[in-house]
Amino acid sequence: MTNIGFAGRDGVFTLENAENITGLYLPLAGERGLKSAVTPNLGGDSKIDQNTFLLEPVSIENLHSNRGTRNFWCRMADGAIWSVCGASAAQEAEKFGPKQEKSRVTGGFLWQALEREGAQGLYAKTESFVTVRGEQEAMLVTLVNRAAAPLTFTPVAAVPLYGRSADNLRDHRHVTSLLHRIRVTSNGVIVKPSLSFDERGHRENEMLYFAAANGPDGALPIAIYPTAEMFLGEGGTFLNPEAVRSDKPGTPAGTLIEGREAMGAMAFDAVTLAPGESTQYVVRFGLTQEAGTLPALMNVLDTPVKAAAALEEVRQHWQKLVNVEFATGDSVRDNYLKWVCFQPILRRIFGCSFLPYHDYGKGGRGWRDLWQDCLALLIMDPGDVRGMIVDNYGGVRMDGTNATIIGEKQGEFVADRNNITRVWMDHAFWPLVTTEFYLNQTGDFSVLLEKAPYFKDRQIRRGMAHDDMWQPADGSRQRTADGTVYEGTVLEHILLENLCAFYDVGAHNELRLHNADWNDALDMAADKGESVAFTNAYAGNLHGLVKILQKLGAEKITVAQELTALLGHDDIFDDPTAKNDILSRYEATCAHANSGRTVELDTAALMTDLTAKANWMQCHVRETEWVTDGKSGWLNGYYDNHGQPVEGVVNDLPRMMLPSQVFGIMYGTTTAEQTAEICRSADRYLFEEKIGGYRLNTNFKEKKLDLGRMFGFAYGEKENGAVFSHMTVMYANALYQRGFAKEGAKALDTLLNTAMDFAVSKMYPGLPEYFNNDGRGLYPYLTGAASWYMLTEICWVYGVRGEWGDLVIAPALQKAQFGGGSVSVTLPFAGRTLRVRIENADGIEQKDYRVYSAALDGTALPVAEGILRIPRAEIEALTADAIHEITVILHA
Ligand code: G1P
Repeated sequence: MTNIGFAGRDGVFTLENAENITGLYLPLAGERGLKSAVTPNLGGDSKIDQNTFLLEPVSIENLHSNRGTRNFWCRMADGAIWSVCGASAAQEAEKFGPKQEKSRVTGGFLWQALEREGAQGLYAKTESFVTVRGEQEAMLVTLVNRAAAPLTFTPVAAVPLYGRSADNLRDHRHVTSLLHRIRVTSNGVIVKPSLSFDERGHRENEMLYFAAANGPDGALPIAIYPTAEMFLGEGGTFLNPEAVRSDKPGTPAGTLIEGREAMGAMAFDAVTLAPGESTQYVVRFGLTQEAGTLPALMNVLDTPVKAAAALEEVRQHWQKLVNVEFATGDSVRDNYLKWVCFQPILRRIFGCSFLPYHDYGKGGRGWRDLWQDCLALLIMDPGDVRGMIVDNYGGVRMDGTNATIIGEKQGEFVADRNNITRVWMDHAFWPLVTTEFYLNQTGDFSVLLEKAPYFKDRQIRRGMAHDDMWQPADGSRQRTADGTVYEGTVLEHILLENLCAFYDVGAHNELRLHNADWNDALDMAADKGESVAFTNAYAGNLHGLVKILQKLGAEKITVAQELTALLGHDDIFDDPTAKNDILSRYEATCAHANSGRTVELDTAALMTDLTAKANWMQCHVRETEWVTDGKSGWLNGYYDNHGQPVEGVVNDLPRMMLPSQVFGIMYGTTTAEQTAEICRSADRYLFEEKIGGYRLNTNFKEKKLDLGRMFGFAYGEKENGAVFSHMTVMYANALYQRGFAKEGAKALDTLLNTAMDFAVSKMYPGLPEYFNNDGRGLYPYLTGAASWYMLTEICWVYGVRGEWGDLVIAPALQKAQFGGGSVSVTLPFAGRTLRVRIENADGIEQKDYRVYSAALDGTALPVAEGILRIPRAEIEALTADAIHEITVILHA
């Protein structure tokens, strides 16, 4: 098998005959608008949302079953038909045989170049991209005669236009084609469905879909085939279409065709290329709701020269956004890390839907993903994050739960995509994680005192009841009894999220699981399920809050009067029923409306209270949740819907789950000895090097309908015991935070090494959501693992992190990670670009070295206690337009 290759340092990779590997695709997208996927055969799709698919929606199986791909054909002088993407019957027949054509995919950030050379010596390079504005996708096709004699052929561009909702893929597929109104223009076709089909109430449709093509210098097509039936001919298929096979007359410009499947097929005049000579065509397809702008849009890229310029703009635009660079001494690794750093940007665009593996959801971004993706953005583009944080707190309900789906616009929330009342008990945990990171990276404590509204809908009492007094017309903001929208500080939102969680416990006095936690597939234990995993996480948050309050330095803080009901009560911490009662009484005070009154709290007393609560939780877990197999122990992380502990040894089978360990380690619930024991248990029961490292859980060999759907998945797939990158990386992060750097490095490196082993992972560069039992990387690009990997690598492995606004450098790289004695990371911090070079010239072990000396742009810096600290003001005083070098020398 060929391997992924890199030429430079910008992530651009090549892969020979990529079509021989199953399931490969690259994302293409604009800043707004179109989101596409493109395969080595130019398959994939393109859409702006669930209801607006330009190309027919595909999920992973369609990549090998569909052949109606984007295509560009050449009918050769002898009648043979050749596809630039290998999507012809003859080329398919030769695939894997001795006559298989050579092809190569070159992939970059949101562009693909596909090269292929045909038997007659015609070479094609097809460059695919979506414009930065996202209005159209383009294919720039360059054809070169590499034969010794002249070559004559007729080019035909072919893009089937779907033009409707993904819901109509099977449901009313034919009926919705009857809505199509297809108009032929001088260089393409426009499709305007007469209605937006929805049996609950059809609506007038304003969306216009188009395809267009031009030749050299803007040459127009000579024949256009606007419908699939015209293009394919009777009995034709996309691998052998009549309009390519034969010189068939097209449909004149100005023609209107009604009620047919649309096709953007444009044939050009035959062309003869002398040996070495080349020519170019540009094919585009896109959409707009503004009819007036359509003619211009269809022609904005009407010459190959303009398309090449647009492609260059795309390359520069996305490259510039990834302003973090690693130099590890291994350029392949550096390039993979570039893609990992790019992945959070892809999640911002795609959410968790709209790529062939990610065929679930109808768009929008999930709550926990939104907050975690912010972590990476905080490193790469901190400018916008403050506004995002404040707006996102507007999604919190006063009972500490939150809206789960984030709308198109920042600060816009939807209760639940399927109108099901659901509470993910981990959701309230993530905002503080991101906010704390923000405070550390920026030192901007004023964000805590910004005001934000609360989200309001019918759901009250943490998903357990409905507010029947609330009507949609009341709007989605919490109001006070007199109808005014109530706003509280960001700090108040954080307090409510974490304090409500503290009282929301089950019979074992651990936090209730509700409808799931981080693991979406633990969704069948809403009554008696408990998540010890996230009990640890919330305890960590309460400790974190105390540190923040200390730093904030305000003697008093103002909060909603109702919140005081959640303070104190240390006499009943051991009593789950009493805790529930307190919560219930609080919930009643803000279920429909709150008073709007506020009170001042004494910060010192609040800090004491929060500490007591956090300590109680951790102590309780330490005392009651430690399980062992006699050799080593680990934490039980869950109770099932029968109220039984989930982990331990059951029927002689060890049951261990990674998330249960991660948060206990991360926030110090486990002692150092327990952490070491957990590492041993994880190595024994979860670790499998060749498939990426640490699995999410052991094989329970039981369907466990009293815990979640995950146990219905085959073992080793997705949430049931796969090596799930996100949790593996958080495990590593937790270990680094606790000083277990060697163990953390093992988790991170095994994961990335498996991704980099193309023969096993069979995926383009980046981290997948998970590796299956064969080590294949699935669900590429859109995973929270990327943000966490970046964060962990920069802040904990390289040890370059903000501490309440100042820069701290405390590396924890393993000796073996110093390729050639030094490594570096380039990144933005405090508005300046820094290149931090870390030198370990004597090859000292991590446990033995400390920062010995350091310099900034050649001037020595003071080092104290083996750590480098640079006050923010010193960094802000540097010039903005240069890369500033920080050198850190490690020594024993
Ligand atoms: C996905 C979801 C994430 C969820 C996880 C586990 O993983 O996006 O919200 O927590 O599955 O069910 P990710 O995208 O983080 O890899």
